[in-house]
Amino acid sequence: MDATPRSTDAAPRSPSRRAALALGAVTALVAGTVGVGAAAAPATPASAPGHAAAKDRGKPAYLNPRLSTEKRVKDLLSRMTLAEKIGQMTQAERANATPADVTELGLGSILSGGGSVPADNSPEGWADMVDAFQDGALATRLKIPVLYGVDAVHGHGNLYGATVFPHNIGLGATRDPKLVEKAAHITAEETRATGPQWNFAPCLCVARDDRWGRTYESFGESPRLVSQMAVAVRGFQGRRGQLDNPDRVLATPKHFAGDGLTTFGTAAGDYTIDQGITIVSRQEFARLALAPYWPAIQRYGAGSVMPSFSSVDWTEDGVGNPLKMHAHSELLTGVLKRRMGFDGFVISDWEGIHQIPGDWNTQVRTAINAGVDMAMEPAQFRQFITALTEEVEAGRVSMRRIDDAVSRILAQKFELGLFEKPYTDRRHLDEVGSRQHRKVAREAVAKSQVLLKNRGRVLPLSKRAPLYVAGSNADNIGNQAGGWTLTWQGGSTNVIPGTTILEGIEDATRGDVTVSETAAEPVPSDATGVVVVGETPYAEGFGDVGGPQWAYDPGDNGVPRPVKDMKLSAADQQAVDKVCTQAAECVVIVVSGRPLEIPPALLSKIDGLVAGWLPGSEGDGVADVLFGKKRFTGRLPVTWPRSVDQEPINVGDADYDPLYPYGFGLRTR
Ligand code: GLC
Repeated sequence: MDATPRSTDAAPRSPSRRAALALGAVTALVAGTVGVGAAAAPATPASAPGHAAAKDRGKPAYLNPRLSTEKRVKDLLSRMTLAEKIGQMTQAERANATPADVTELGLGSILSGGGSVPADNSPEGWADMVDAFQDGALATRLKIPVLYGVDAVHGHGNLYGATVFPHNIGLGATRDPKLVEKAAHITAEETRATGPQWNFAPCLCVARDDRWGRTYESFGESPRLVSQMAVAVRGFQGRRGQLDNPDRVLATPKHFAGDGLTTFGTAAGDYTIDQGITIVSRQEFARLALAPYWPAIQRYGAGSVMPSFSSVDWTEDGVGNPLKMHAHSELLTGVLKRRMGFDGFVISDWEGIHQIPGDWNTQVRTAINAGVDMAMEPAQFRQFITALTEEVEAGRVSMRRIDDAVSRILAQKFELGLFEKPYTDRRHLDEVGSRQHRKVAREAVAKSQVLLKNRGRVLPLSKRAPLYVAGSNADNIGNQAGGWTLTWQGGSTNVIPGTTILEGIEDATRGDVTVSETAAEPVPSDATGVVVVGETPYAEGFGDVGGPQWAYDPGDNGVPRPVKDMKLSAADQQAVDKVCTQAAECVVIVVSGRPLEIPPALLSKIDGLVAGWLPGSEGDGVADVLFGKKRFTGRLPVTWPRSVDQEPINVGDADYDPLYPYGFGLRTR
């Protein structure tokens, strides 16, 4: 995403005429294809063996669910005009397009960018919005259903009331692929039940420099760990043949590839590392960047993939020739589609095509010829259609490439069951944010906590000891959820249902609790101090160390957010210093998207130190390990440096001397 604010106006979509239109669409479809007033087949009970065949007789092949996806794609493709084909390759953003645009242009997909939500940001409001766009699609000649995509990257975070899981870096700390799959399945259920059938997740980035603002979207620095967590694809999609279930969504491993390998200082604009250049040999690239995509594609059958904004510069070819991933046919077509056998479709990132050198038509032509199948053009969707049409008519993009792209897209729509069930199946609507789902998220929070220091076995805490709780992130659910929560960048004032870490502590203890965020209140000498420190929310390059400052969220009132530096704020350092000097003992919990620098003088005063990551809506999961209801089992998914100056620092480096190494984590009995 670029640095300008995403459109977050929430123009209400017309309430769906879902039931009436669906019936009308099916009737029109059959009538339109077989001639109006075709003699109705003799009424036969649905149970009769021949019923299915009779029901399907006379329908165009692509509408016959008993035919193979391959046959249905072939039949539908043969009926499509160039305009209809290019429409399927085009995705627009909901705030800039209407259902009428879907009808007029035959748009293949609509997305919600981060924070782009319906005026009624409820499960029903979402389902009505998505179904209104589906009305538009079913009003087209061939009635090809529209795909609706969102970033449900840690639960359906845009939706108020959704279960918000720990971000991937915390899930990586659990070392529990089964739990990751379960979390993805719950996310799929809460997403599909509210309309979107497509999730731009999981991020399979391997984060090698924690100064990157997207470190928290990574499961960790080890390609082996990230490869294990590629099982999230199965959590989203289910096994082959389950994609049409009401609790599954199309997955999108991203950002292919090397998004987490870029070199600090190579980014364009005011980002410092996000979307920069990956300077690497093909062998290292395969080992670090491509590794997680093999299981995602070959074992779990991911149906779509999103390329990275970043560029790749092969060292063996002589550094100095970076090529954007969106233009990289050697990798998008040569490796992803041919070598890995990827038969899904490639969706560009947000205006990712615009970063390719050249004029607009060159950018469009280059991306499509490199292997991009659908363009995420939030605002310039009409211009994309015009440019691609010109390029095909000029013979610079072949019909073979167009047919390949459209076939890939249609195949996923058939697999999703959209032609049989185009509208939202709302049977799981009431399970959004349910107690059962939150219980799983709470378990994930507890398992994600990493115990780094436990002097004098201060942990687990006694439930009777008087407590003194301080720190900027003790009682802020927006901060503990992080980016991609209600808004793209997340926000300290983005309040969602759930429990803060403080609320979890108060529920768990029977002792007195004094709360003072800045530790202004006197600290009783017999108290146990718990100081919850860390970062305020960010996303993408706005989280880069030394990166730009975001100031566009309504809750910010135009005040720019702090520049990120991977250090504790002065207020948090003072709170830790005071509490850990005056209390009987103290525990510090770091709630952040990545490791933060802890000054040695401060560290020496801390008895217990916990990496809390970004736990999401169920902050009470932190109290579960603090008070021994659950044992600490988490292990570092990334190296914890002594100072920011050590970045990038990763296990296996020659002079590896971190504060806490990759995989470290103390256990409690
Ligand atoms: C963003 C991100 C990508 C996301 C897309 C749609 O810029 O790079 O991860 O899926 O836009 O929101």
